[in-house]
Amino acid sequence: MMISSYDHLKKAMNEFNDTTLIRLVYVSNISKQALPDPLLFEHIRTHSEDYNRKNNIKGMLCNNQKYFLQCLEGTKQALLPLMDRIFQDKRHKKLRVNLLKPIEHYSFDDWRMRSLSLDESLWCKGTIQAQSPELMKFIPFKPLEWSEWFLEHFLEIMRKFDDVNQSYEAQQKSYNIVRDPNAQVVSILDSTLLHAFLLVLVLAVLLGVLRMNAII
Ligand SMILES: Cc1cc2nc3c(=O)[nH]c(=O)nc-3n(C[C@H](O)[C@H](O)[C@H](O)COP(=O)(O)O)c2cc1C
Repeated sequence: MMISSYDHLKKAMNEFNDTTLIRLVYVSNISKQALPDPLLFEHIRTHSEDYNRKNNIKGMLCNNQKYFLQCLEGTKQALLPLMDRIFQDKRHKKLRVNLLKPIEHYSFDDWRMRSLSLDESLWCKGTIQAQSPELMKFIPFKPLEWSEWFLEHFLEIMRKFDDVNQSYEAQQKSYNIVRDPNAQVVSILDSTLLHAFLLVLVLAVLLGVLRMNAII
């Protein structure tokens, strides 16, 4: 299945009843102009949480430095207007719906839009990914090459991964660790600044000692 336009999606959705719960998964390429924006994810998430909660849409959003993968679950009345806007959103391009099917129940338990970065550069000791060998299977993150079965498997693992981070606060914290590439830059920057400060301190002490010796 590969749906790449809103009109095509609308047609494909015709086969579902108004009350049918639908799972929709798409992959898109993050656009070049959006990529450097450090708040890209935060903006989408904040907006999505509000809209999705009000419209009973559940799911998750993840990315690496190249792709977004989003799973949305809801009725077609809820999903279609949203997908219309998502298709037009300039922050990504080449959107391809690769899973569209009726489901019995929501697979994600609440309205939260999970955002998770699967960027390889963040795969370092101490991060959530490194502690979760199950996620390892999906790195490198190449969702366009995945079969439907593997895609569903990925969603299942992500759902379980979610359960581990039960409280919302804890989840936000842990997700920040893996989501925000700037967090690493900041911590590197922090330690660089700390090292520079210590170096200046040592030099100042040395200079003081030398001066004292010269005076003595
Ligand atoms: C990858 C991606 C995923 C998005 N997911 C959602 C979402 O789940 N819910 C939502 O309301 N907006 C989502 N958006 C934002 C919409 O595309 C759009 O910007 C937003 O609905 C505001 O549209 P408006 O400016 O026309 O009101 C997403 C955007 C991107 C780039």
